[in-house]
Amino acid sequence: MTGKIQRKFFLWSSLIMITAGLFLSVVLYFHLKNLLTFEVKDKAHLVFAQVDAVQSYVRKVLRPTMYAILPRNKFVLQAMSTSYISRAVMERMNFHKDDYYYRRVAINARNPDFEPDELEMSLIKYFEASPQLKLWEGYKKIGQDEYYVMARPVRFDKSCMYCHGRVSDAPREIVNIYGDKRGFGHHPGEIGGLDIVALPVQSVVMQIIGTSFSYALMVFAGGIFVLAVLNVSFKSLVVNDLRKILDIFKTYFNYDYKPRKLTEQRKIDDEIDEIIYATQGLAKYLKEVEEEEKRMLLKMQHSEKMIAVGRLAAGLAHEINNPLGVILCYAQILRSSLEDEQQLKDMDVIIKHTKMAQKVLTDLLNFARPKKAEKTKLPPEEVIAGLASVFKVQADTRQVKFTTRIDSPLPPIIADRAALEQVLTNLFLNSLDAVPPDKGHIELYVYADGNSNLVFGIRDNGPGIIDEDMDRIFDPFYTTKEPGQGTGLGLAVVYSLVQEMDGDIRVKNDGGAVFEILLKTKQY
Ligand SMILES: Nc1ncnc2c1ncn2[C@@H]1O[C@H](COP(=O)(O)OP(=O)(O)O)[C@@H](O)[C@H]1O
Ligand SMILES: [Mg+2]
Repeated sequence: MTGKIQRKFFLWSSLIMITAGLFLSVVLYFHLKNLLTFEVKDKAHLVFAQVDAVQSYVRKVLRPTMYAILPRNKFVLQAMSTSYISRAVMERMNFHKDDYYYRRVAINARNPDFEPDELEMSLIKYFEASPQLKLWEGYKKIGQDEYYVMARPVRFDKSCMYCHGRVSDAPREIVNIYGDKRGFGHHPGEIGGLDIVALPVQSVVMQIIGTSFSYALMVFAGGIFVLAVLNVSFKSLVVNDLRKILDIFKTYFNYDYKPRKLTEQRKIDDEIDEIIYATQGLAKYLKEVEEEEKRMLLKMQHSEKMIAVGRLAAGLAHEINNPLGVILCYAQILRSSLEDEQQLKDMDVIIKHTKMAQKVLTDLLNFARPKKAEKTKLPPEEVIAGLASVFKVQADTRQVKFTTRIDSPLPPIIADRAALEQVLTNLFLNSLDAVPPDKGHIELYVYADGNSNLVFGIRDNGPGIIDEDMDRIFDPFYTTKEPGQGTGLGLAVVYSLVQEMDGDIRVKNDGGAVFEILLKTKQY
């Protein structure tokens, strides 16, 4: 089976191979063409050097010698004309027609064969337009074929004027041979014609193109072979292992393919994308597990502590409860026989404090004794309404504002009514202790959080709970109240009751303390 990553790899590597092949052959083409230019340029210079040598010999040696031995006005074309002699010599060298050709052309030439053709004329015009230029070279098409052309202007100097100036000054022989029309009337410095060498390059250029093309083909063929080898090794080295990793993920970890948020949406194109996605899923999962583990550990530590304290308290309560009962009983008997006002008052203090001690013990036993929950179907609105009437009376006596808020409709829960009422009552009493006496406000509310939880909450506008206390408020006997004011058992009881209901407690500060009890609606 071909993997998507393998297909991608194959596509990309072929693209790279093809591009590299094309690039190399283009480079090769230009390199070879450069070499060719170098070669032909050299050859063209050599031809010009030959022409120069011949002409210089004529001008400096042959012609003066002839003038010296010939009578005045005598002119021997074959031994004295630079153009004639250089053409004659170069014609003898021109036998390699395939190698190059040389021409010396002149405007209004004495021999009409040496009139400039179209290309030559355009070059003469070019030199006339830019007098500082001494040479032109480059590739040109002549007829059907490509040539490398090198040309230079031929300018008349003073020594040329004898034969090319006025007809009356010219040697008789020249007028006799060529007539008095062509080749006269020139001035020193004027461009009279052109030396031009052209080297055919057509076949070499074709060869270069052929070589570059076959080079490209070679790279391509080699590339395909290399690709095939790479493909096979890529499959065995990478793709197979990637598949194994993916299989492991699929077997042991059900990673979710669907991104949760739109911003997380990414394209899953190939195996690597899939592995990245699966790894992200795994990392998230591990993080969640770690956090859950921490929470569970804390919860367990706390419940261990509660159980231990509960056992201790239960034992202790029994030991104290009986003597307290005896004290109360005898105190009441004694009271009935008293008449003195002061003694009656004192006895009342004893009875009041004994009752208070009994209340603490009842709380302790409530906290410690495993209770049998009586679960019934409870409409949350009804629970709130029942409690509200009681809370309202208590709030009124302290001039505290009390309100309720109920999101409707709400699903019913199945729970122990007494336990739930006890929890909310304990929270309410704490709030009542916490709020400022004249401006106090306590709210009792319930809503469904959309996560199959019903949330009962009590919110007050008291001072809230300081951060250091947050971890301790649920501990039994932890209280910040004056001795005799609080037992520190209220929230411990709340905690154990909520645990029994399989619920959760949240505490936060939000303009006061907010306690929320989360009870599952689905599981019942
Ligand atoms: N609504 C509240 N606002 C501020 N502090 C609170 C509130 N409820 C509880 N507490 C803090 O938590 C402590 C423990 O509460 P609790 O277990 O009910 O014991 P007690 O009420 O006997 O002190 C309290 O002493 C108080 O410091
Ligand atoms: Mg309390």
